[in-house]
Amino acid sequence: METHEISRRFTDHFVKAGHTRVPSASLILDDPTLLFVNAGMVQFKPYFLGEAPPPYPRATSIQKCVRTGDIEEVGKTTRHNTFFQMAGNFSFGDYFKAGAIEHAWTLVTGSQDSGGYGFNPDRIWVTVYQDDDEAIRLWQEIAGLPLERIQRRDGRDNYWDMGVPGPGGPCSEIYYDRGPEHGKDGGPVVDEDRYLEIWNLVFMQDIRGEQSPKYGYPPIGELPNKNIDTGMGIERVAYLLQGVANVYETDLVRPVIARAEELSGLKYGADPVNDVRFRVIADHARSGVMIIGDGVTPSNEARGYVLRRLLRRIVRSSRLLGVHEPVLGAFAEVVRDEMSPSYPELATDFHRISAVMRAEEEAFLQTLTSGERIFDLAAKSVKQSGGAQLPGDQAFALHDTYGFPIDLTLEMAAEQGLTVDEAGFRRLMDEQRNRAKADAASRKTGHGDLSAYRAVLDAHGSTSFLGYTDLATESRIVGLLVGGASVPAAGTGQDVEVLLDRSPFYAEGGGQQADSGEIRGSANGGFRIEIQDVQTPVPGLNVHRGRVVEGEALLDAEVHAEVDVTRRQAISRAHSATHLVHAGMRRALGDSAAQAGSLNAPGRLRFDFTSPAGAVPPSVLADVEDEVNAVLLDDHEVRAFVTTLDEARKMGAMALFGERYGDAVRVVEIGDYSRELCGGTHVHRSGQLGVIKLLSEASIGAGVRRVEALVGLDAFRFLAKEHVLVSQLSEQFKARPEELPDRIGAVVERLRDAERELEKVRAEAVLSSAGALADGAEDIDGVALVAAAAPDGVPGNDLRALASDVRGRLGARPGVVALFSATGDKLSFVVATTEAARGKGLAAGKLVPSFAAAIGGRGGGKPDLAQGGGTNPAGVPDAVAALRAALRDGSGASGTRASG
Ligand code: ALA
Repeated sequence: METHEISRRFTDHFVKAGHTRVPSASLILDDPTLLFVNAGMVQFKPYFLGEAPPPYPRATSIQKCVRTGDIEEVGKTTRHNTFFQMAGNFSFGDYFKAGAIEHAWTLVTGSQDSGGYGFNPDRIWVTVYQDDDEAIRLWQEIAGLPLERIQRRDGRDNYWDMGVPGPGGPCSEIYYDRGPEHGKDGGPVVDEDRYLEIWNLVFMQDIRGEQSPKYGYPPIGELPNKNIDTGMGIERVAYLLQGVANVYETDLVRPVIARAEELSGLKYGADPVNDVRFRVIADHARSGVMIIGDGVTPSNEARGYVLRRLLRRIVRSSRLLGVHEPVLGAFAEVVRDEMSPSYPELATDFHRISAVMRAEEEAFLQTLTSGERIFDLAAKSVKQSGGAQLPGDQAFALHDTYGFPIDLTLEMAAEQGLTVDEAGFRRLMDEQRNRAKADAASRKTGHGDLSAYRAVLDAHGSTSFLGYTDLATESRIVGLLVGGASVPAAGTGQDVEVLLDRSPFYAEGGGQQADSGEIRGSANGGFRIEIQDVQTPVPGLNVHRGRVVEGEALLDAEVHAEVDVTRRQAISRAHSATHLVHAGMRRALGDSAAQAGSLNAPGRLRFDFTSPAGAVPPSVLADVEDEVNAVLLDDHEVRAFVTTLDEARKMGAMALFGERYGDAVRVVEIGDYSRELCGGTHVHRSGQLGVIKLLSEASIGAGVRRVEALVGLDAFRFLAKEHVLVSQLSEQFKARPEELPDRIGAVVERLRDAERELEKVRAEAVLSSAGALADGAEDIDGVALVAAAAPDGVPGNDLRALASDVRGRLGARPGVVALFSATGDKLSFVVATTEAARGKGLAAGKLVPSFAAAIGGRGGGKPDLAQGGGTNPAGVPDAVAALRAALRDGSGASGTRASG
């Protein structure tokens, strides 16, 4: 049965049963909670929510849907489509469970002659929500289903809601058993591949609260009406009724594969790897056309990015099938021909659709070849160096210069068994973004690039920061940005900036590092954003930067924002410790020790201060350390309050930079030891710091010093580690800890003496071989030649000394000395000539080339002495022979040919 016929029968069936036929909504519904429409009920949302009265009690539609969450699965399974059509029937307070079950059952199992799909009722299984006895009874009564083919499942599988507070309900799903050759017995709870879900019936009866009954939270009430929302997967029904192996081979999709076969000259079904490519092309071509049809154009953000990724995957898959020419136009035509009977706008709008596709393909093809080459080179070099990860800068270059979406690079890397340094890639992306921002800001001498932030600030006011007291708050997402632009939603894996109406997150400032943590929403099936950084690019607005790690984040969603408490506490300890170190330094060095900068990171701090007198003596540092640790033991209360700057000054608070008179200022005081203007977060009592350990003190510029310190557990661990180290040393040196410095000093001294002694002995040994070498001189046409391997590992200096010594022993004879010494697979050599040899025109430097090749080496020097190195110690005998030959034919002579 053709797909169009399946749709037609669905519509007819429900129209006959009193449903109003409603056309598919656009994929891009004006719904900020969704990137693409992904279910039939989306366009009816207001009726379910009671926001608008339904114009009809019953409706039916065939809705275009896009879901790209499982894009990696496309082509690899039998049933993953990025575009599909959901057929649905809807009742708004009209019929309920019995009606829904009856309508579905008669269509699914009704004979094909009478307008049904004709599925064998004996192969139908259903699932119901765990305690829905009513549904079980109805399936038995209406459909005559035996109890053993009705399975109960919990909310995760059989409760459906929109992912946000609102209507929801238990659901019942209809499955078709493809037969034992496709998997294990036991129904859908055992195997969802053999038992293929074709239809979901949702009994919308509850009001869902913040948390979903999917996960066991009770609904917060009952809907005034009991509604029905169903969704049947047209492609899945087609795949079953057409007797093909998967959704890609159904009648509306398979023709794209056929076109790809023509273009590539390859056969589908001949090679499993290519088959996946064929199926990816077929699926994506259809999604691409449908998405462009609804007005999206390729870009680097949100929907445009999804589209770009789909199109570029087609181009690359085609490339892998050996097609180098543009393909998108050809595939688009096939999709148009197959889909326009249901969606006539694809034909009327085809000119625009194919133009968008061609432009995108052209842009990508211009860089694809070079990009692939760059990728291959990079992948090769990673593998050669024994690595398994493509560096982030390569992925960035591929993205930036060659237009490879990061996902494409990830896929290509995975094909080669490599991973990609994604963190490095994101960092470079961020840097580029920051550069672009800085550029834009300086070019416009305004804040043009901050306009998205400003818009949020204007609309919602500044972020109210609750993080002095609360580490978790309920908030709302009032701004969601991707790449600096506002978006309604952001999917898993996207880097986002989140603006909240209220936030517990501390934004980096005053030397204190930003909080990290998590923002969770239950909207849209639930989502989670990991927050890595918080900044205030516009005063008053906290911008939470992070990545969506689960689900799809939505603008306007109610969320739970939660700071990483451990990190925050460690940072707060560092900040309070900085105040104490500051106060301690001032007490020790006087008021000239003014703070010049600071860093408060988890468990550690850096404190920069002016010190006209230069380095702080270690004894002073030790005193300060001692004193501040005593303050910890006193366990002072840490208090923060807001007052005027005048007042704060009068109280002796240490003020830093920037405050103006009349400003309200925040003062943080630790007992009466420290009082400082500060907007940061702190501990409640000084005792919470545990211990402060100063690590180092150094200059970081004219008159500015820096101390670094550890706080709390980090300080303790540092001390504990040092303690272990000292214990080990004292064990090894058989000395008490306080004796260690002397003991180690003495050992080092003895070692040095021993090395000097050894050096001398070795040199003497080498030199003592000089006599034997000289005695072994051979006569080559009146020239005494000493060419030999010296002992291994003789350093260059010693080898030279040895060669001169041997030369000296040759006296007034014409003589050439060539000595080689190997160290591992390296070789050094020295050539020396006597004066008489030089008189005969023999020059050391000129002799080197005669034997260098034999030892894979090179070198050179003056007539009396030359030296060099080589890489082939095994070639020494050949080198000696070559040198002999050179002396015989005189090629080492300088100037004229040697006569001898
Ligand atoms: N709205 C239901 C679903 O998408 C039918 O499964």
